[in-house]
Amino acid sequence: QEIHYFPETDSTNIRAKELGEKGASHGALAVADRQSAGRGRRGRGWESPPGCSIYMSILLRPSFLPSSAPMLTLVMAYSTAEALQECTGQEIRIKWPNDIVLNQKKLVGILTEMSSEIDYINHVVIGVGINVNMDSFSEEIAKTATSLRIETGQVMKRSTLIAEIMKHFERNYDTFLQSGDLSGIREDYNRLLVNCGKEVRILGAKEPYQALALGINDSGELLVRKQDGSEEAVYAGEVSVR
Ligand code: BTN
Repeated sequence: QEIHYFPETDSTNIRAKELGEKGASHGALAVADRQSAGRGRRGRGWESPPGCSIYMSILLRPSFLPSSAPMLTLVMAYSTAEALQECTGQEIRIKWPNDIVLNQKKLVGILTEMSSEIDYINHVVIGVGINVNMDSFSEEIAKTATSLRIETGQVMKRSTLIAEIMKHFERNYDTFLQSGDLSGIREDYNRLLVNCGKEVRILGAKEPYQALALGINDSGELLVRKQDGSEEAVYAGEVSVR
């Protein structure tokens, strides 16, 4: 695996995209110690101080259709959760579709970006930000964010975690390719899902509504049971769950 390390960069997602445009091979990884313009989902930023966190983005060159790409984010979320759980022994959980939480606070964020035509993927970049050794956050996110160090009191070696996550991702990616969907990891993903069996509020639909989360289906949609007993699959791109 090709690894590109940057002591400082604007965003590893931008670096990985650039690697993609320059012809870097499938699996190339951009890692930084610090980001000056870390990007989060929905146009938000990602706090990226030096010396304590993991900022990494993997470049993938899949041959499947662009419509399958969103499932890769769940493959990465599951792989990261599995690896962190193994390395720390903590109850690491996934908050659908792709946040990772520990003790109800956010530990990992994932941002997937794709360059594609209608029927062809040029490349996919999956960026992962993991709060490892930071001991505090800005006031803005202090109530909702946490780090492995804050929760366990332990300082972890970042390179060990990265290697472990890559190992899990490689295996789960292969499983994903075999079926082209999440059927091979669905049950294990659902076991780590913090929303499972809980009431969730579905936002973004015409009328926001309350429902019981049942777990993901093979496409990564969240199955929910509405109050009238009917079941529905909600799609991550269209709704957000609170
Ligand atoms: C989120 O909003 O939850 C997603 C955050 C993703 C942050 C990571 S850090 C490495 C990569 N580079 C970025 O600029 N963003 C992602």
